[in-house]
Amino acid sequence: MLKFEKTAIWALQRLDPERAHELAIRSFSLGLTGSAPLDDSRLSTTLWGKDFANPIGLAAGFDKNARALQGLAKIGFGFVEAGTVTPRPQPGNPKPRLFRLSEDRAIINRMGFNSCGIDIFCQNLAQLYKANRAGHAEGASAPLGINLGINKVGAHPLKDYPYLVERVHSYADYITINLSSPNTPGLRDLQGPETLSQILEAIKKNAPYHPPLLVKLAPDLDDESYRPIFQAALNGGANGLILTNTTLARPDSLRNARAFETGGLSGRPLSQRARDVLKIVSELNKGGQLTLISSGGIESGRDVFERLAMGAHLVQIYTSFIYEGSSLLIRLKKELLRAMDDAAVNSLKDLSHLS
Ligand SMILES: Cc1cc2nc3c(=O)[nH]c(=O)nc-3n(C[C@H](O)[C@H](O)[C@H](O)COP(=O)(O)O)c2cc1C
Repeated sequence: MLKFEKTAIWALQRLDPERAHELAIRSFSLGLTGSAPLDDSRLSTTLWGKDFANPIGLAAGFDKNARALQGLAKIGFGFVEAGTVTPRPQPGNPKPRLFRLSEDRAIINRMGFNSCGIDIFCQNLAQLYKANRAGHAEGASAPLGINLGINKVGAHPLKDYPYLVERVHSYADYITINLSSPNTPGLRDLQGPETLSQILEAIKKNAPYHPPLLVKLAPDLDDESYRPIFQAALNGGANGLILTNTTLARPDSLRNARAFETGGLSGRPLSQRARDVLKIVSELNKGGQLTLISSGGIESGRDVFERLAMGAHLVQIYTSFIYEGSSLLIRLKKELLRAMDDAAVNSLKDLSHLS
């Protein structure tokens, strides 16, 4: 890790987490955070006709309002997921609502979809595209996912999701239907196969033109529940699943006194359950019908290697990035390449054949 970055992270860790987050977003949006070297070609992959320079993406919730996408691509993410964006602006839950559990390498959040709303979100994207076309925003870009959610008050999922898909379809390389954040009352109930089928049907009917559609699931379902949900996603025309969002569980291993704050737990203590869910769903996905993105507690190149070998096509990180900053990406890629060398695999395609 660069000395400057080490100091910056040390300072950010001492700030209130939300202030630190805002500062980080501003730095990324101003491009103050440097550029990563080009990726080794062995890390590249193609999905849905799009080139990914590497399989490590930034998970949803970091850039909720699409303010810093270019800066985030520049530091070496293979793809970035913006959002969750809601139809109307909303402030989210009262503060404090974001807690670092440093000893546990974890975070608990109950942000509650604080969002600028879809109008401003799309204005931010339009500005970015305009700057790109005019050649002002030099440098990297990476495939963009856009993560959609519903408002806490006055939500109508069968109207809201198609409406949001319609609004963002021309900007996104893929779209995520988020049904799994634990901080919006009732949201996780929408994961049931019948409701999921209805949502996908409503999108098919009212917003038929869109990039690949992924559904993001919680880790807290019974093991047996993933099969009917997988089937509903497949039958409903979804292209993939993101596994998983944060958990409501509180493993006994947690040491930080904040462990019993209400909200979703992410980071190291989520890792085992995220792996278990990936294993269950990969078994169902033997034919590779759906694209799988694994998220939850990834903090080493060996973790990335294992998730890809277990059947994930891509991975996403959030919490480990908060603790380690952009040098994490350099480390993860180095370790992933070393793991690939050790296993004598030369490409991510070969790696997926290990599962
Ligand atoms: C502070 C915070 C906010 C998050 N906000 C969202 C969100 O808005 N939408 C979403 O789908 N996931 C959200 N997530 C979940 C992450 O995208 C990710 O799935 C989860 O944290 C597991 O990955 P990790 O263990 O690497 O953090 C959030 C996570 C954190 C820590």
